[in-house]
Amino acid sequence: MERVLSGAQPTGLIHLGNYVGALRQYVQLQHEADCYFCVVNLHALTLPRDPQELKEKTLDVAALYLAIGLDPKKATIFVQSHVPAHTEAAWLLQCIARVGELSRMVQFKEKSKGSAESAGVGLFTYPVLQAADILLYQANKVPVGEDQKQHLELTRDLAERFNRDYGEVFTIPEPLIPKIGARIMALDEPTKKMSKSAESKWNNISIMDDPKLIEKKIKRAVTDSENQVRFDPENKPGISNLLTIYSTLSGISISELEKKYDGVGYGQFKKDLIEVTIEFLRPIQERFHELRHSGYVEEVLKEGAERAGKVANQTLSKMREAMGI
Ligand code: ADP
Ligand code: NA
Repeated sequence: MERVLSGAQPTGLIHLGNYVGALRQYVQLQHEADCYFCVVNLHALTLPRDPQELKEKTLDVAALYLAIGLDPKKATIFVQSHVPAHTEAAWLLQCIARVGELSRMVQFKEKSKGSAESAGVGLFTYPVLQAADILLYQANKVPVGEDQKQHLELTRDLAERFNRDYGEVFTIPEPLIPKIGARIMALDEPTKKMSKSAESKWNNISIMDDPKLIEKKIKRAVTDSENQVRFDPENKPGISNLLTIYSTLSGISISELEKKYDGVGYGQFKKDLIEVTIEFLRPIQERFHELRHSGYVEEVLKEGAERAGKVANQTLSKMREAMGI
């Protein structure tokens, strides 16, 4: 059976980009593979966080995993820091990673805003921690959005290097990047990716946004002056992004949507997309509210950490043995 690992940072509420690019795949994969889904709170520490807020957001993301349909009987759901093997494995892998390869990580360059001197060391080495997350579970498939492609390459390089220098310990993982929606763009700036950490509140639609806010955000979403609903990411990034969102949330293909809105214009298109989004999110939000403060989330995470810990510790033992410690 295939092994799957993926995670999301508790740096804010999950948005439609996270859902369409990655989490939607989790829900499907749980029925087909041995799945491990974590809330990567150690990754969140790479930039300054309020401790209380980090705690709450960690539980929020775990509750959202459950609310979108992850079933703890089908997949192991846990918090990264609850399994100490991740930090130890990350150290061991840091000792084989190279400064040069980490310096080439685009996300580091972006998040450190070009100033490596004052950037945190954790921000620099976090792709190695991510490699540890994946390799500890011997995952062969990693469902992620396109922005993680480079980090997955690094993970593969580190696994291959380790296997070559210390003996076969790791499975070499492959990214599972969806054909449609691997890079959902910001609503207000469709040339940039939708992100949790964006400064503008018009950047993303959070899974928890209420109907009024969803309406405002979609109405304000940047399009173009052509008023033709056509999928053309290069020349019409705004409307193409909205088409992708519409298609994934409704299950109607992009070409069918193009036909449906042929000659209709953006006004009606946006109105319908608002409705589709609100109705799609409604049951998820209801389930989130039912679960979040019920004590169930904590229970799931406790059991998840036990299950995950067993698998992770097996790999960690092999790593230690191979490296002579
Ligand atoms: P963010 O970048 O919003 O903080 P995370 O780093 O927690 O999100 O990523 C969680 C998952 O969502 C990853 O698999 C990532 O590749 C995916 N993802 C993030 N942003 C987008 C996006 N705009 N479009 C598609 N997938 C995305
Ligand atoms: Na499963």
